[in-house]
This record gives sequence, C-alpha cells and structure tokens, in this order.
Amino acid sequence: MSFEFSRHRRLRNSANMRSLVRETHLRTEDLIFPIFVVEGEQKRNPVESMPGVYQLSLDLLNDEIHEAVQLGIKAVIVFGVPEHKDEIGSEAYNECGIVQRAIQQIKQHFPELVVVADTCLCQYTDHGHCGIVENGEILNDASLELLAKTAVSQARAGADVIAPSNMMDGFVAAIRHGLDDAGFEHIPIMSYAVKYASAFYGPFRDAAHSSPQFGDRKTYQMDPANRLEALREAESDVAEGADFLIVKPALAYLDIIRDVKNHFNIPIVAYNVSGEYSMIKAASQNGWINEKEIVLEMLTGMKRAGVDLIITYFAKDVARYLQEN
Ligand code: PBG
Repeated sequence: MSFEFSRHRRLRNSANMRSLVRETHLRTEDLIFPIFVVEGEQKRNPVESMPGVYQLSLDLLNDEIHEAVQLGIKAVIVFGVPEHKDEIGSEAYNECGIVQRAIQQIKQHFPELVVVADTCLCQYTDHGHCGIVENGEILNDASLELLAKTAVSQARAGADVIAPSNMMDGFVAAIRHGLDDAGFEHIPIMSYAVKYASAFYGPFRDAAHSSPQFGDRKTYQMDPANRLEALREAESDVAEGADFLIVKPALAYLDIIRDVKNHFNIPIVAYNVSGEYSMIKAASQNGWINEKEIVLEMLTGMKRAGVDLIITYFAKDVARYLQEN
C-alpha cells in the first residue's frame, strides 16, 4: 500500500495494553452514597420508582452503612423524610429531627465515614417548596435564615459536610456565615451550585415525599437550556465560600460539568440523580440492557467529563463491580 495512515489499533491490542493507556479511572473513593431516613422502627420502605432504594428507620440504618463501609465507600449523603411537615419546615432545624438523629448515630458508629448533610427545606415544608412561601411566592431572603439554622443544626449533630440544595440566591454566604458564627468554620460547604429544574428528579420526590404542592421550581432552579448561567451560579458560590461545586443532574449535563471543571479549581461533584437511576433499572429489569456495563460506562463518562466525585444510588453496586473487575 502506498498511502499513509495512523494505526490507532496498536494501543488496543490486548486487555493489558488497553489498561496501560486508559485515561480515566473510576474508583470506589469517588462515590457518595445517598441514604433516606424515616421515623419509626423496622422500616425498610421500598421506593416504588427506584428499585433497590429504601427509606430506612434508624434501627436498620447501621446495617446498611456497615455494608457500604465494608465495600470501601468513604462518604454518604443523608436525606430526612420527616413525619411532620409545616409551613416553615420546622423539622429541618429541629435538633432532635430525623436527620440530626441519623447523623449522630452514624458518626457514633462510623466515626471515619464522611457524612454529608443535604440542606434544604422541601422535604420539611407542607407546600413542598425549598423556601418560605408568602402569597404563592417563594421568598429568597426570608428562607436564608432558616437554611443557615438547618445547616448549623446538622453540623451540631456531627455532619462533616453541609450540602445546600435549595437554590436561593446567597445561600452559600448565609450558611458560611451561620456556620462560622456557631464555631463550625472547619466544616466545608458542598454547594448544589448548578442545579437545573429537571424532570429527572421525579423518582426522588417519591422517595423523599418532596413534590411541590403548587407550581414548580423554575423560579429558583435553572433552565436546562442555559450554559453561561451555570458559570454565573458557580462563580457566585465560589465567591461566597463554596468548597465543592455540584452539577445536577449529570447525564444530560456533561457539557456543563466540563465547563465548570475548566473554570474552577475546587472539587467538582456530579449528582447522578434518581431519574437517571430509574431509567437504567427499568431497562435492566426488562432485560434490555446490561446494567453493570451501562452503569460503569455512564459513571466513567461523568469522570471523563471532569468530575472528582459522584453522588449515586448505584454506589454499592459500583463498589462491588470494581472489586469484581
Ligand atoms: C432537594 C433535593 C432534590 C434532589 C436532591 N435534593 C429534589 C428537588 O430539587 O426536587 C434530587 C435528587 C434526585 O433526583 O436524585 N432540594
């Protein structure tokens, strides 16, 4: 043959060769495992739309966490599903609330595990919005005080990281200020900085009973069509003191993950959300896809896009897959 071309296949010749030139690595240390806690005893309520995900009462929590820790998982994120909801989300900042007790218990039994607290009001308000509502409007500044209070109560319970997800303007500054005033200047903030108003959260709202009772979240969560706005959101959160930036959802937003990674030098986190989980579970239960291969490919894609950490309901499965491989 008299023409020249490149032989890319030389580097794909064998499994060992492929492993030598592999650019992206998914590790168990990259995973943050979400946990839903409920009041009561002997509760292991399956979440209908998320096969394999349960709401757990505190007496069953240690076993679940033990399993995750045994698998090498280093961090969990805790979501409370309270029994009592009201207009001002009082259970969110109750020192004896379900999340506060869960955090205390986890830290007591698993002191090394990094416990991340999701800081929001939507599971705790009867209207299901992430802030205070007045005349059908979600108030920004009035919500900040309650959020800071929630964060401080979670830090007091022993949370290692505060992850505010409510998308009010100034929430990182308000929480940083609240934490510092209460003597928690050493506690980092993992901000849901770039959070889109997404239909991919549907199953989570089943799991956490947090659907808005009127309207939607579009006045505070972002428009999926916007890219530059993601950089503005991330920029202000970094300026206000965020230590990590979350991009959420992940799968339909890999371009945003890469943008954020290229612009900021703090750890970037992807939230592989409930809808992304349920789609794979449904297809896999139908025998239409290979769950293990799809999950590993999807999470590797997120890492390649630039994330350092991934919050995922697949965390335990992935830890198992990585042991097998
Ligand atoms: C609370 C919160 C939500 C999720 C995480 N924290 C729901 C929402 O904004 O409606 C979604 C997580 C998921 O879908 O897995 N604000």
